Amino acid sequence: MLESLRSVVSLKPIERDATKRRLGSAANIEDLRAIAKKRLPAGVFDYIDGAAEDELAMARNASRFSDRTLVPRVLRDVTTIDASVEILGRPAPMPLIIAPTGFPRIAHPEGELATARAAAAHGIPFSLSTMGTRSIEEVADVSNGPKWYQVYVWRDRELTKDMLERCKARGYEALYITVDTAVLGRRERDVRRGMTLPPKIGLDTFIEGAMRPAWVWEFLRAEPIVFSNVAVSTARLNKGTEDGASAVTLAEYVNSQFDPGLSWDDVAWIRSQWGGPVILKGIQSVADAKIAASEGIEAIALSNHGGRQLDASPAIIDLVAPVADAVGGQTEIYCDGGVRRGSDVVKAIALGATACMIGRPHLYALAAGGEAGVNHMLDFFQSGIEQTMALTGVAAIADIDRSAINDPH
Ligand SMILES: Cc1cc2nc3c(=O)[nH]c(=O)nc-3n(C[C@H](O)[C@H](O)[C@H](O)COP(=O)(O)O)c2cc1C
Repeated sequence: MLESLRSVVSLKPIERDATKRRLGSAANIEDLRAIAKKRLPAGVFDYIDGAAEDELAMARNASRFSDRTLVPRVLRDVTTIDASVEILGRPAPMPLIIAPTGFPRIAHPEGELATARAAAAHGIPFSLSTMGTRSIEEVADVSNGPKWYQVYVWRDRELTKDMLERCKARGYEALYITVDTAVLGRRERDVRRGMTLPPKIGLDTFIEGAMRPAWVWEFLRAEPIVFSNVAVSTARLNKGTEDGASAVTLAEYVNSQFDPGLSWDDVAWIRSQWGGPVILKGIQSVADAKIAASEGIEAIALSNHGGRQLDASPAIIDLVAPVADAVGGQTEIYCDGGVRRGSDVVKAIALGATACMIGRPHLYALAAGGEAGVNHMLDFFQSGIEQTMALTGVAAIADIDRSAINDPH
């Protein structure tokens, strides 16, 4: 009896590497989020995880994905599944893009370097934010994958112009203009905690730090966190603009530096300075998608900033079909906000998106395990997309259309 049991049951080797052990227990994005929550001081976790006001837009982003079901077609040969696509003319093994996010180094000291390397290893675009904590040049030094840059438009246009020059010099392929941040949304978790960037190490952080020693130790040991892209350009231009080296609340910073007067004329000016493909990020209506398409904008990103701006904004997945009906074929359509599984990506593609973008998932993954964490998360998406395609009965992305998704209403 014991012999026969031993022949089917054997002891699992113990994983000695703590990061691998942690990641091994993360079966999905929610698990990575739970690990991030344990490892990060509460104020830092809430800055990443939180959204505007009552956080309804964030909740709707997620629930409107889960409200939708796919149409599983069977007895179709799915021996070979090909999830590859072209994004802005460049092949990618899956329709996924890392969205730009501010301050990634508060999740992990390597920040964008780790994410850019993992994105390049997976062949998908990595997006660097104006509010990034690694510079345009530092990221280019570690990644030969597709790199995109996101600009917020500064009141001081020279600063924006200088960033574009630096991107061109280092081979960035596309430029986002984020258009949903005329002023910063009211993120009430940050208001409650008096969250500043970089986080101030005060008594409360130390008390909490006792429970999160790994983060505090790494934070204190690493070089200071600054808005690296702003810092390099202000130094090049000899300007005294705030580079984030001193702690400020994000709302103060954004509202003093970003230009709320931004208009379609400014978009035209930036395009003329840039000369390459532009993505308008933060489009949330068919009307604006039509203007973008008529202006010849190469791509639009349907996005409500992960619910961090207008809490009364529509769920992003609800916008995909109407926008695709209005402007599909004229401009590429990306979408983000609540994309947490391969099946979410397949749903967005079925409704007419070209690709999806992910924000918080890569920050949770960074906090959970640095570069290995981001690789783990991207493997999860790649296999999730392929598995969903196999179970839906489609072998190639081009074969996914509206017939693959049930009417949500
Ligand atoms: C912590 C954090 C910082 C962000 N910073 C920026 C930013 O600097 N620029 C920008 O265009 N979008 C920013 N975003 C929005 C993301 O690009 C993306 O639209 C959003 O996170 C997608 O929703 P998801 O987090 O549900 O995937 C940020 C999002 C988060 C969570």
